[in-house]
Amino acid sequence: MDTKGKVIKCKAAIAWEAGKPLCIEEVEVAPPKAHEVRIKVVATSLCQTDAHIIDPKFKATLFPIILGHEGAGIVESIGPGVTNFKPGDKVIPLYAPQCKKCKFCLSPLTNLCEKLSKVKDPVADQELMEDRTSRFTCKGKPIYHFMGVSTFSQYTVVSDFKLAKIDDDANLERVCLIGCGFSTGYGAAINTAKVSPGSTCAVFGLGGVGLSAIMGCKAAGASRIIAVDINSEKFTKAKALGATDCLNPRDLDKPIQKVITELTNGGVDFALDCAGGSEAMKAALECTTIGWGSCTFIGVGVGDNGLNIFPVDVIMGRTINGTYFGGWKSVDSVPKLVTDYKNKKFNLDALVTHTLPFERIHQVFDLMNQGKCIRVIITM
Ligand code: APR
Ligand code: ZN
Repeated sequence: MDTKGKVIKCKAAIAWEAGKPLCIEEVEVAPPKAHEVRIKVVATSLCQTDAHIIDPKFKATLFPIILGHEGAGIVESIGPGVTNFKPGDKVIPLYAPQCKKCKFCLSPLTNLCEKLSKVKDPVADQELMEDRTSRFTCKGKPIYHFMGVSTFSQYTVVSDFKLAKIDDDANLERVCLIGCGFSTGYGAAINTAKVSPGSTCAVFGLGGVGLSAIMGCKAAGASRIIAVDINSEKFTKAKALGATDCLNPRDLDKPIQKVITELTNGGVDFALDCAGGSEAMKAALECTTIGWGSCTFIGVGVGDNGLNIFPVDVIMGRTINGTYFGGWKSVDSVPKLVTDYKNKKFNLDALVTHTLPFERIHQVFDLMNQGKCIRVIITM
């Protein structure tokens, strides 16, 4: 049946309000408008950000909304003016846009893009399409998009500057992780921290993002990688991926930053916070060495009061930096990362602990909230 130009009815998981489980509902997905692409989502995964965003403490989004931002699929139809995609193309939707025209895209110094509404308006984060309308409706109500991608829907609509065409033989049930978690952690180590050969690193938080950061530190040639988590069940995987030491702050009688500083003769060269929350962020900064220690923030805290640091920590030569989507210029880099995965440059399979059908998305949230999974592949 030709669906081009028609409204598609399909299943989507809707977050009607903060703090409530998602509901799988029938939604209508409008055809793509100018410079938009409608995609059949094949696989997606849950990232901690999806869970955080509906936390009532966070107050970071509008409702009702279709979450999901780590997905992969196939182009169903294209809107007017779309030249880089055609029906049947395998694609990864990108919450990090790359228009290739704005001052940020033209600079090698950043991967941000003016099309990221946060650049202009810190409140708005791509909850509507460029014309400030939604392509989703449910029970007669418009439903917000999430980060401009909304992959918890069997069909979604994405702007053409937020989409990467990938290899025809890409395994969508794996490369969906390149849509967020893997790229964020791996890129944080390689592009943002610029971890150097022979260096010592500490990675806080060993979820999908943190384990990918460990892979990045290892690929960059770090000689010692200290993995930190308050859940010791995460250590086996961390070791398998390159961690040389594993520490649980809850098992120590001294603050974790003190222990790491002692272990490393004054602190690590690079610390990466992939846990989120001021406790881990502060410890990450304070476990770096004076002189040149670099601390990279990746995790986002929930309902946190912000970071309270001592100016002397940075006066003594430490730097703090942060990363959005691992510093990758998204449209250019994601197809290359997909090819690199195919060529076994890194191990996405290690991040996958479960595969579940879309109908069981509640179980996926439970697994994530209980710390019992790394990444669950959700098949649509
Ligand atoms: N110290 C060390 N580890 C911690 C701490 C802490 N204070 N608090 C939480 N953690 C650990 C958790 O036990 C968990 O293993 O951090 C890990 C976070 O992993 P996930 O919940 O799987 O999250 P992930 O999807 O990897 O995202 C990490 O990046 O995108 C952001 O909002 C997201 O803040 C989250 C972070
Ligand atoms: Zn741009």
